[in-house]
Amino acid sequence: MAYNLLKGKKGIIFGALNEQSIAWKVAQRAVQEGAEIVLSNAPIALRMGELNKLAEECNAPVIGADVTNNDDLVNLFTKTQEHFNGGVDFILHSIGMSVNVRKSIHYTENNYDFTHKGFDISALSLHRVLATAMKMDAINEWGSVVALSYIAAQRVFPDYNDMADNKAYLESIARNFGYQYGVKKKVRVNTVSQSPTRTTAGSGVKGFDGFINYAEKMSPLGNADADQCADYCVSLFSDMTRMVTMQNLFHDGGFSFTGVTQAVIEQMEK
Ligand SMILES: NC(=O)c1ccc[n+]([C@@H]2O[C@H](COP(=O)([O-])OP(=O)(O)OC[C@H]3O[C@@H](n4cnc5c(N)ncnc54)[C@H](O)[C@@H]3O)[C@@H](O)[C@H]2O)c1
Repeated sequence: MAYNLLKGKKGIIFGALNEQSIAWKVAQRAVQEGAEIVLSNAPIALRMGELNKLAEECNAPVIGADVTNNDDLVNLFTKTQEHFNGGVDFILHSIGMSVNVRKSIHYTENNYDFTHKGFDISALSLHRVLATAMKMDAINEWGSVVALSYIAAQRVFPDYNDMADNKAYLESIARNFGYQYGVKKKVRVNTVSQSPTRTTAGSGVKGFDGFINYAEKMSPLGNADADQCADYCVSLFSDMTRMVTMQNLFHDGGFSFTGVTQAVIEQMEK
């Protein structure tokens, strides 16, 4: 069901890799709600070619950008401004990668070159995107920026590795840049802390099956899936949430505030 919540709005969606990606669902949902979008991902992801399917479906141009590269971001915003003949109203940052996770290097033995790379891609990139947009005046007044996070920013999930630190930093940037952009141009910045979700990035985490099943049992509503996350992001891009900024918003079926559930107790009694 569509409500035209984003009618007339324009946005950039970072991070759609394949049909499982949360960003893929957000792109589809945003367009259903009347938005026009530009899709962006790292050049290496574009070479995989899957994004072209989504681009066609959404009638959206694809503009490559490695989010660790300032020139790429300037190019992205320049071309986006040309395409829309003006600024954007929303941005989704749905980007994460840890080389330490990929190579199964234990948190206590992290390779710091890999840590730097993962930090640059997963956390600092939000600052780069916002700083570039601010310099180029690329986000319209009352625009909305959403970045995806995970509860490992607040609580320990040992196998989430250095991504936990990256998410803590990401949420901090959303608060601090949210303040600056709010004062300067009434642009709001929030993070959405999503349930574990079966995607390429999600499934890379060691023990992911146990992880996702545990969260399912520990959430009164069950895990939120990628489509539901897309619904929530759309609401945050819409004018219905104009006064929400600098927040980390849990979208997790109640997991974050649940101490224990009957289902987990029964499992422990077996
Ligand atoms: N899947 C989960 O369980 C889960 C839970 C909570 C939060 N998240 C977060 O959601 C976001 C999206 O992840 P996903 O689960 O949809 O997985 P995904 O693998 O589909 O998306 C990750 C994206 O990051 C992009 N990326 C990596 N390096 C990049 C670079 N240098 N420049 C530009 N883009 C780059 C990838 O190409 C990919 O499109 C991430 O921030 C992730 O941490 C995921």
